[in-house]
Amino acid sequence: MKTAVSLSDLRTARSQLAEPVGFVPTMGYLHAGHLSLVRAARAECASVVASIFVNPTQFGPKEDLSTYPRDLPSDLGLLEAAGVDLVWTPTPEIMYPDGYQTWVTVDEITQALEGSLRPGHFRGVTTVIAKLFNAVQPQKAYFGQKDAQQAAVIRQMRRDLNFPIDIVVCPIVREPDGLAMSSRNVYLNPVERQAALVLSRALQAAQATYDRGERNPRALLQTMEKLIAAEPLARLQYVSCANLDSLLELDEEINGPALLSIAAFIGKTRLIDNCVLGAADLD
Ligand code: PAJ
Repeated sequence: MKTAVSLSDLRTARSQLAEPVGFVPTMGYLHAGHLSLVRAARAECASVVASIFVNPTQFGPKEDLSTYPRDLPSDLGLLEAAGVDLVWTPTPEIMYPDGYQTWVTVDEITQALEGSLRPGHFRGVTTVIAKLFNAVQPQKAYFGQKDAQQAAVIRQMRRDLNFPIDIVVCPIVREPDGLAMSSRNVYLNPVERQAALVLSRALQAAQATYDRGERNPRALLQTMEKLIAAEPLARLQYVSCANLDSLLELDEEINGPALLSIAAFIGKTRLIDNCVLGAADLD
């Protein structure tokens, strides 16, 4: 496995890779969710490139940039074992040198959900992903359904800016008890870790209600709200039942694929989770 820090080293190493190239962008502190993306890329592409970059521009001023967990040696070991060919670990100065002033913004689809609570977050994500795409020039790029809105925003950016890259969205990988894997789970103390299960439980309960035939989004949201309210360590930010493509909130009946999503603080840790209702064709 090769590693590169500078853009020129990345480009040299990239030019020697067999095509097609699959790309897995990450912020490191890797877990089985990240590795599932690498596995999917490995299965479909001749070469796999991963990046590790804790992107400062997608963190708000009161968010956890300075404490975001990092463990580069462990990450490199995991990526090598998973069969990655090249890892790019640029520095903030390489990605955003002095005088940097170009941004990629995607409009409507970034307004709701995460975008409404994390102003500027998706501008940081789309800007860094556009830069990573331009540097790595993959044929395919792999993202997790865990960050459902992020995946939808990147698919929108790909269409709008004509990136010749297939966006592949992979299922959420969960702990055995249902908690969606996240680098931020490390912030949870044992009591909070138990309380955090309320997110996946709420989604499961709403999914079960849907499976029994309920098609009123309000009813599903109430099911989730009730469960969250019963968990003293949880502070709900939003529950949402939205059109899977536009992410616009559904207020009538669910009659196509819908994204059920939830964001909540467990103590000081902000967690998100989601599930898709109804058959979904993500292409
Ligand atoms: P990060 O949180 O490190 O996640 C990297 C990729 O792993 C994302 O596509 C994310 O959706 C996916 N992922 C995380 N947890 C997962 C899980 N439990 N199951 C499946 N996939 C999972 O998302 C980012 O980094 C950044 O915003 C990034 C796209 C790298 C841009 O900076």
